[in-house]
Amino acid sequence: MQIIPRVKGTQDFIDNRLFRFIINQFQEHISLYHFTEVSTPIIEQVELFKRTLGTFTDVVSKEMFLIKAADKEDALCLRPEATAPTMRAFLEVQPLTPWKVYSYGPMFRYERPQKGRFRQFHQINVEVIGSSSISQDALLITMLDRFFQEKLNIQSAALQINFLGSYEDRARYAEKLKEFVSALDGICDTCIVRKEKNILRVFDCKNPTCQKLYENAPIMIDHLSSASQKEWEQLQKELTLLSVTFSINPRLVRGLDYYNKTVFEFVSAQLGSQNAFCGGGRYDRLANELGSKQEYPSLGAAIGIERLMLILEPIIDSLSLPQPKPLYVVMPLSSEQNPLALLLVDTLHAADLTVDTFLDGDSLKSMMRRANKMGAAYALILGDEEQQNKTVLVKNMMTGDQEQIKQIEVAQYLKK
Ligand code: HAM
Repeated sequence: MQIIPRVKGTQDFIDNRLFRFIINQFQEHISLYHFTEVSTPIIEQVELFKRTLGTFTDVVSKEMFLIKAADKEDALCLRPEATAPTMRAFLEVQPLTPWKVYSYGPMFRYERPQKGRFRQFHQINVEVIGSSSISQDALLITMLDRFFQEKLNIQSAALQINFLGSYEDRARYAEKLKEFVSALDGICDTCIVRKEKNILRVFDCKNPTCQKLYENAPIMIDHLSSASQKEWEQLQKELTLLSVTFSINPRLVRGLDYYNKTVFEFVSAQLGSQNAFCGGGRYDRLANELGSKQEYPSLGAAIGIERLMLILEPIIDSLSLPQPKPLYVVMPLSSEQNPLALLLVDTLHAADLTVDTFLDGDSLKSMMRRANKMGAAYALILGDEEQQNKTVLVKNMMTGDQEQIKQIEVAQYLKK
């Protein structure tokens, strides 16, 4: 019989230390900005994403993992992102605004797997719901920038920003862009569809012919209303004031439909073609798209944890990953000593020491070899003699020195 392999586009995290480090560092960092942690379900109604991300986006049209529930009443799916679910939760509970929250967990998109692109991946998701001030955008971007640069020591990242204007600006601009694209000869089939369904996404086309053709396309920031222009300038000024380095990418539109005004991505050349490891922006009408009568202008971002790990792996030594505590291994020389080993282990755990034990009746030689491989600091050997004398043979794995210590004094001895 064959061993069943893992599902394509998924990963087993066999060593979770870097993942855990990222989450811990982020929690520490974002608590300074007064965000609280929330968590929403992994399954949601498909309609939640259709209404918010846009029916014609790749995520909704091609990448949803649909679930057949037993009663087949509702069409359910695995969440492809966390912004729409967070807004749904907000509208259900109606907490005080601005609601500043973060969450982390798995997301699911049926994409073609490649470096940094998975079908099950993980995001840290941050949202500020119910705040219209563009200064809030500057603050959120600064929070992320400080996290990457100062907390994680990433030097290879670049921040790209763009401004999509109000929904009205965006609609006006979309018309202009459509006129421009309609007059072109030789765009690819995907762009022909995008032109009709989601014109801004033509800029995401990877086809070199299309890219060349779009070089002279009108750009959004040249078509902002005067109110939007003011906000765009304010954002740049405030980022500069806070010493956040950015470049303007007028073709950055992002793959989800809910954005207006600010959009941004943190990219790294280390990642190859999937170069964005964090993306976000403002989404002032998402609440209304979910049925709210009241407006809740909002913004947020998500960090792709797998991509962040790809960036951090080469510089892992520069990070202060927590060092494991010294390991003590209790070795009963025969099953006769197992009950005593269990008691000793329990006593040492109560003294807050990290203790493992071998209970499967190996020879002392092979137990010592295993303990060595595990990086144990001390072996605690229990044989007939120790059992009778109420002692433990404590062996220092580094020096080889050994000493008989009274069982009741072992914890104290090791703590010293
Ligand atoms: P997104 O740009 O679709 O935005 O995803 C954010 C990040 O998740 C990406 O920059 C990337 O690092 C990571 N990511 C996306 N797809 C994959 C994948 N298939 N494999 C590995 N990593 C991936 C959002 O999801 C928005 N909800 C962000 C947001 C929050 N906007 C406002 N609030």
